[in-house]
Amino acid sequence: MKILVTGGTGYIGSHTAVELQQEGFEVVIVDNLSNSSAGVIDSITAITGIRPVLEVFDLADYKKTMDFFQRHSDIQGIIHFAAYKAVGESVEQPLMYYRNNLVSLMNILEAMNSQQIPNLVFSSSCTVYGQPDELPVSEQAAVKKAESPYGNTKQISEEIISDTIRTSGLKAIALRYFNPIGAHPTALIGELPLGVPNNLMPFITQTAIGIRPQLRVFGNDYNTPDGTAIRDYIHVVDLAKAHVISVQRMIQSRMKKPFEIFNLGTGIGYSVMDVIRSFEKVSGERLNYIVVDRREGDVEQVWANPQWSNTELGWKAEKNLDEMTYSAWKWEQAYKKRSRKQ
Ligand code: UFG
Repeated sequence: MKILVTGGTGYIGSHTAVELQQEGFEVVIVDNLSNSSAGVIDSITAITGIRPVLEVFDLADYKKTMDFFQRHSDIQGIIHFAAYKAVGESVEQPLMYYRNNLVSLMNILEAMNSQQIPNLVFSSSCTVYGQPDELPVSEQAAVKKAESPYGNTKQISEEIISDTIRTSGLKAIALRYFNPIGAHPTALIGELPLGVPNNLMPFITQTAIGIRPQLRVFGNDYNTPDGTAIRDYIHVVDLAKAHVISVQRMIQSRMKKPFEIFNLGTGIGYSVMDVIRSFEKVSGERLNYIVVDRREGDVEQVWANPQWSNTELGWKAEKNLDEMTYSAWKWEQAYKKRSRKQ
């Protein structure tokens, strides 16, 4: 059974391609390589023993997208990861974000309609909840006004999908990710941010390995036990597995309604200091960090109520924080070793 993974050479996409192949799916990847490299295909092949097909083009290109789908009309389902994802950059270049993230989605939906491909898994984000009124946050919580154009593209995308489904035979599952971190246990694939990382985990590992001089902890005056902000960190392999389960749910017609939404988190909130301490414990490294002012736009605390995913989707995050930070560190070290050899 053929599944299209858009953005399949990226961080979450590559882990999902591996899990799909290991469950017996045939994987076709479309990626424009704007934030990833084609070499990831070799790593996926090394892990699974199967080489996924890669087609390099931009899904915001209508003609190329339609041409692709005509050649691959036997695709049974699509997992759509391909999107820009840097919050700060989206504030600087909103149109670039709206064009890329929304046009590519609309092209895919149109192709799904014309080729009668019924199943879409969409990569959404807990950013749609903003700072929720109640914690833990369930799928029923209100969608708050987006803090950034990036967050807005996720909200609008969910609306575009929902409206499209109302008048077509399509089905979709939106997965709202909390904070994915960590890497594959083989250390062959992981998170590879271009330039200076925005996110906490790659900044920690890059500081420890000597690429960055110092980690800045953004604020320790939040209303939390240790004063630093709290997030629900989830291992990327756990996250990837939820995509495979979602595809199976759609294909086996187990959905309760044509558009379903699930939270993907562990249900446990950890502070920035918790993550640093876990990293120091599993790596044996002392991390050089200082506390600075809060980062603009950050919410104080958010973690998931994953009950609906656990019971209805039949998925549960299995890996704990130490396993996440350990795998991220192993990946950073392995990457350094490989880069030295080249
Ligand atoms: N942090 C630091 N120092 C850093 C980087 C991050 O202290 O160098 C802190 C942040 O202030 C925050 C926590 O670490 O408290 C996590 O920050 P990340 O940037 O790793 O993650 P965010 O929660 O800000 O963002 C993530 C995704 C976004 C998504 C958002 C939704 O990266 O795509 O969750 O809440 F929009």
